[in-house]
Amino acid sequence: MATAAKVRGYGSAERPLATEMWQREAHGPNHPALVEHGNFEPDNHHVDHARYFDPARAQDEYDHVWTDNWLLACREEDIPQVGDRVPLTVGPHSYFIVRSAPDAFKAFHNSCLHRGTMLCAKSESAATIRCPYHAWEWNIDGRLKAIPSHWDFPDITRLNGSLPEIQLERWGGFLFVNANKDAAPLIDALGPIPAHFEQFAPDKRFTGARFRKLVRANWKITQEAFQEAYHLYSTHPEAVPFTGDSQGAYEIWRNEAGHVGRNLTCAAVPSMFAPSEDTSLKAGVMLAQGMIGWHYPDEPEPVLDEHGDIRAQLGAWHRDVASRVYDRRIDLPDALMLDSPLYFFYPHSCFWLSEGVPFVYQFLPHETDPEMSYFDVRLLLPCPDEGPAPPAAPTIELDADQGVFAHCPGFGFLGYIFDQDMSNMPLIQKGAHSANPEKPFTRLSAYQEMIIQHWNAVMDEQIARGKAARS
Ligand code: FES
Ligand SMILES: [Fe+2]
Repeated sequence: MATAAKVRGYGSAERPLATEMWQREAHGPNHPALVEHGNFEPDNHHVDHARYFDPARAQDEYDHVWTDNWLLACREEDIPQVGDRVPLTVGPHSYFIVRSAPDAFKAFHNSCLHRGTMLCAKSESAATIRCPYHAWEWNIDGRLKAIPSHWDFPDITRLNGSLPEIQLERWGGFLFVNANKDAAPLIDALGPIPAHFEQFAPDKRFTGARFRKLVRANWKITQEAFQEAYHLYSTHPEAVPFTGDSQGAYEIWRNEAGHVGRNLTCAAVPSMFAPSEDTSLKAGVMLAQGMIGWHYPDEPEPVLDEHGDIRAQLGAWHRDVASRVYDRRIDLPDALMLDSPLYFFYPHSCFWLSEGVPFVYQFLPHETDPEMSYFDVRLLLPCPDEGPAPPAAPTIELDADQGVFAHCPGFGFLGYIFDQDMSNMPLIQKGAHSANPEKPFTRLSAYQEMIIQHWNAVMDEQIARGKAARS
């Protein structure tokens, strides 16, 4: 049976597709993010609901997905001093990352060599790594330092007593770990990300605000809420006048080493769902008001010429304001000053290439419950051109019932948007159990939900391959 041709978004002459808007970019038109495109289109296929709650499926993911990919662990500024450390816990697996020298980092299995006690349960600092149970002790580079009553462990020596490491690599101020010793280099897995983000310079940014929220939904459900803009019209109706949701673009880059998906939504243009009398001028004014309200409370509203190019005017205004406020020359294209291109890095992280909304996300499974997850969000602000980088903001821990807007002022009105997204999560999780047992599958859209399709397909492939290799 012939399948219908895929339609790549829905726009109009007044409300163009994101791909057309980016082709019109006048300020930095040859930026790699604007001119390079994905190389892969997934088949449209069903995804079963059981993967969102079945403990056996969660175990398959722990065994074959979480242990075989580059995982975003933290930022360098999270552990600024030698001896600082943070855990990365992924379901039942746990690692910890230590700054072992002024410009060096190590990642270890979070388990004592003696009887397995967790060695790092929270963000902390010390001159050595010392187990709380019987005080076995290692240097911060993992070499064995001391064992009380060492005479009673005749087989353990300084040669065989080091803490086992997992791979750690750095990009853009981020630290990634991989439990697979034979993994391809991180730089290969990142695909287009390093080139697209070079001018954005994530290494010259710092965590200006951060929260980590417990969510009553599987980690994939939480992540999938951000892999499409299809829900904007219904879940975030306030954004419809200034956000081109149905005009958005979805792309996938795949290579031997990794997968990157991009969900691009343009701002300063009304949605196709907005009333026909809504104009780009109105969209531009609302976008500027939103940015001022959140980032730049002391700035006056820009005066926009309705006969000129609204995006070009807003882009120039935002470059000027951001450069002054952050004390740093910011010269990104209009598109990256205004729009929301979200780069998803398989399997669980997301980087926004956006000066308007410079977020970084991690989606992590709960330690024991596949129907819960953690949503970790940071705001990655520019460091000043001169002087030291500001310190990283502390992480605000939110439980499942605490709202972002009420508890995280650093996110301004975007906390309210997160709360809208989060309100859907328990309903999706509960509904997954209640589907018609004869057809317990989601119906993913062909275009707007292609990243969700691909992520699930890759996970299925990885699990099948991993199981075959072990049998
Ligand atoms: S379990 Fe760590 S020293 Fe005994
Ligand atoms: Fe949303």
